[in-house]
Amino acid sequence: MEDYLTRLPAARQQEIRDLRAAVAARLQQPKKGFQRFRDPLAAVRTLPPARFTDFSGDKIVIGRAEEISAPQRQLLADALRAFMPWRKGPFSLFGIEIDAEWQSFMKWNRLLPSLPDLAGKVVADIGCNNGYYMFRMLPHQPRQVVGFDPVLQHYHCFQALNHLAGRPEPAIEPLGVEHLPLYPGCFEVVFLMGVIYHRPSPITMLREVRQAMQPGGVLILESQIIPGDEPVALFPAERYAKAPGVYFVPTLPCLINWLTRTGFSRIEVAAQSPTTSEEQRRTAWMTFESYADFIDPARPERTVEGYPAPWRAIVKAENPV
Ligand SMILES: C[S@@+](CC[C@H](N)C(=O)[O-])C[C@H]1O[C@@H](n2cnc3c(N)ncnc32)[C@H](O)[C@@H]1O
Repeated sequence: MEDYLTRLPAARQQEIRDLRAAVAARLQQPKKGFQRFRDPLAAVRTLPPARFTDFSGDKIVIGRAEEISAPQRQLLADALRAFMPWRKGPFSLFGIEIDAEWQSFMKWNRLLPSLPDLAGKVVADIGCNNGYYMFRMLPHQPRQVVGFDPVLQHYHCFQALNHLAGRPEPAIEPLGVEHLPLYPGCFEVVFLMGVIYHRPSPITMLREVRQAMQPGGVLILESQIIPGDEPVALFPAERYAKAPGVYFVPTLPCLINWLTRTGFSRIEVAAQSPTTSEEQRRTAWMTFESYADFIDPARPERTVEGYPAPWRAIVKAENPV
């Protein structure tokens, strides 16, 4: 497939290619941690791309059961198990049903009424995980979708899924939001979902995101929030709802102030709702603790650490022309 960078002339091509080469060289090292995902990806690549796909429903369907033989299905099932825990989904892959921790369609359905026009656009999905949302974008006919996720599990899992899907529009880079300065003015739509509270400097990050957008480009910012009308952010002592690596969890007014003060305009709240154990829960494909374990059973409006229980918000904003 043609390298998507040819469609992004403003990107700092050589530096991106050098970073890719450095990651690829690192991944070739005979380390267990690298082989853990490289081997199942190689196994999936022995299978043919699906004849039938459907990205328009809650469950992403890639391939029907009858398209592959029983030994091929066994190979696929083993490879898919190697990508556990599955956080985002659901997927149906050649008849293998993957129920992920998050019912990711619930977020997509909240976003859908405010979805910007993606037709013919160059889109980034930052923190794309296994690409669930990149696949959901495809029926909206983007020209190019670039996913960024530095976590090797997700980087490999997406490549396995997209080998099976056989689609040319989505691509993934093993890079993080901190690499966006390599993409000045490149993207017409940016999805930044579930990432901002994991960054120690949300303001620096939003500035870098805006610089990677074309003038008039649209940002879809989705975040965990705490309820409240004051423009403040929670900074947990250690963990928030048992999650490590959480820095600032804003109220909705605080999130809006971050956007305003980093130069975004036309800020619109698309949705806000509490997280529930219907949306996030333990499944056969994600067997660790989940939402119900993160919340104080005696006070469901509090996390186990005693902090306000998480809500989530989706905000749409524009990079001014
Ligand atoms: C909470 S998940 C959100 C996934 C998805 N965007 C969603 O909304 O459901 C956060 C994602 O960010 C990824 N991530 C971790 N470090 C990152 C970084 N430095 N830049 C971008 N994404 C990162 C994680 O691997 C993970 O897939």
